[in-house]
Amino acid sequence: MTMYDYAQQSKFADKIKQMHAAETNGSELYFVLIYLAREKGLHDLAEAMLQNACEDALHGGMYGAMLGKGKEQEDELWQQVVRLYKLEAAAQDKLHMLADEIRAAGEGALADCVESTIVEENTHAQRLKDVFEKHGIAY
Ligand SMILES: [Fe+2]
Ligand SMILES: [Fe+2]
Repeated sequence: MTMYDYAQQSKFADKIKQMHAAETNGSELYFVLIYLAREKGLHDLAEAMLQNACEDALHGGMYGAMLGKGKEQEDELWQQVVRLYKLEAAAQDKLHMLADEIRAAGEGALADCVESTIVEENTHAQRLKDVFEKHGIAY
């Protein structure tokens, strides 16, 4: 039994939408505050918020699935993740080009921020690739 698309049959569909919005907006705000706390060296605060933010984002994902977001059929789920993988794998070149353009326009601090994400974007792609290979999924 799956909770996918459950909101269609629930009397509480509007509540599920509200909870989805509250959890996803709340986690986004946490992530913004984590960035700002880290800038100030408040690493213990950032660490506590990071755990809360990930858990709230997962709560949002649960409600999102109930609202019919994503794919429930296993082959479609893999296909959707392969599409995400392709975006992650293509990110490096796009981000370097964007950072170059920004730097050429004189906004070096912004260019550095954009470039700071590249190593992790590559890790995101690699992490998915490892799982695809383990499961024999074409990507
Ligand atoms: Fe939550
Ligand atoms: Fe990513």
